[in-house]
Amino acid sequence: MSKQGELEELMEIAKRRGFFWPSFSIYGGFSGLNDYGPLGSLLKNRVYEKWKRAFASVGGIEIDTPNLTPEVVLKASGHIDKFLDIAAECGSCKNRFKLENILSDAGYEIVPESVEEGEKLLSDHILKCPRCGARLDKVFEFHLMFKTESGSESYFLRPETAQGIFVNFKLLLNYNKGKLPLIVYQQGKGYRNEIAPRQGLIRQREFNMAEAEVFLPEEGSEVFAPSGNREAQLFDKYGKTHTMDLSQAVEKSVIKSAEHAFFMELILSFAVDVGIDETRLRFRQHRDDELAHYSSECWDLEFNMEGSWLEITGISDRGTYDLTRHMEKSGENLAYEGNQIARVIEPATGVDRVIVSILLSSMSKRDSGYNVMKLPAPMAPYRIAVLPLQKKDGLSEKAQEIFKRLRSMEPYTVYDESGTIGRRYARQDEIGTPYCITVDYETMEKNMVTIRERNSTGQIKNIDVELLFSHPDFLSNPILDQFGSQ
Ligand code: GLY
Repeated sequence: MSKQGELEELMEIAKRRGFFWPSFSIYGGFSGLNDYGPLGSLLKNRVYEKWKRAFASVGGIEIDTPNLTPEVVLKASGHIDKFLDIAAECGSCKNRFKLENILSDAGYEIVPESVEEGEKLLSDHILKCPRCGARLDKVFEFHLMFKTESGSESYFLRPETAQGIFVNFKLLLNYNKGKLPLIVYQQGKGYRNEIAPRQGLIRQREFNMAEAEVFLPEEGSEVFAPSGNREAQLFDKYGKTHTMDLSQAVEKSVIKSAEHAFFMELILSFAVDVGIDETRLRFRQHRDDELAHYSSECWDLEFNMEGSWLEITGISDRGTYDLTRHMEKSGENLAYEGNQIARVIEPATGVDRVIVSILLSSMSKRDSGYNVMKLPAPMAPYRIAVLPLQKKDGLSEKAQEIFKRLRSMEPYTVYDESGTIGRRYARQDEIGTPYCITVDYETMEKNMVTIRERNSTGQIKNIDVELLFSHPDFLSNPILDQFGSQ
């Protein structure tokens, strides 16, 4: 359940245990930049892997293109002219804010599109500085891309990975033997010169993205239609909530196309599969005034954090916008089968926000007050911890021996012998390790260990050590069936 203060609590655990923390902190920290520590890096890799599998399982192919993007590409894509925020400055403390956020906090869901519109909003409403309470009094345009130069060439750090895919359409279509549909995905960094980065991984200047561009024939396709097996909450652009499965949503024209709904369903399944609490998810349709310059319809999958909704993936209908623009600017023919232009559906995931959503969905407390991170076992950074009951009487050496054998089978195994056994269980619970293997005197005498499961704290005793190695994938070992499913 969403609760106030949960993000701060997570950030404290994340820093202390090694999931993530603010970058460059020995120099005082720089807002909007964060590092993943050892546990967070493992979790991020797992999220990427699940995301890619979801798209590969419907025929997607992956590419990897540069972060540095020449100006001409972003001129064609419209980002140079349109990728702006309207910002406001406090007359007293001179802090600057995104005007859209100030308006939203004051209860107005408006996205100002020009300085003139922003100035009018500021004169019609008394909008106060969130820092010092003085009235905001200056409106200006704020460009969201980072610019850099090499010789006489201008480049920008990419605001989205998508453009690297669009500019390669011809080569990719050729790779796909000239056929549509064509699904191309890319993972990597994206950059936005946010005026007010905040909330750790939530609003950053450099962030992790996973995007797919789904190129479809102009005439719609029968290939992608939602299964209808997954019900969702859909909050439409008129402010109405529908609870229905996604094929029904297409039949009732809540969602315009079956392909759009198909990829919404795929993203929802991915989100639940990686461990996000489904009861904290909804889809929200963009209002016409907040659609990105390239989009004609967009549904965001949102996660409820501290009572507010946070976008974790946007599923956008980009139509023929990008290919048409690149055709005009580059002079290359990006049509298929003569003069037809593919239309595009784009699921774009903010990976850092997915990670926060997974951790917030998993974070809970025992009656004792200790934290436990109830991650799905396959997502947990470490799958197994090996713990000797004590260091003495050869238990340490025996545990090391078992640990090394296990690690060669399941590399994400950790060894811990510091502190009491209770403290070590608590440490593994807090980082989400689903299984602890305890080496005790039974191991020395009879080659038997105890396995403890994280969620229930249940233990199975007298497991023959050799049984740990009887299955090549530890998480699928039938000995774990006794704990029930996670
Ligand atoms: N490509 C979608 C986005 O930039 O959010």
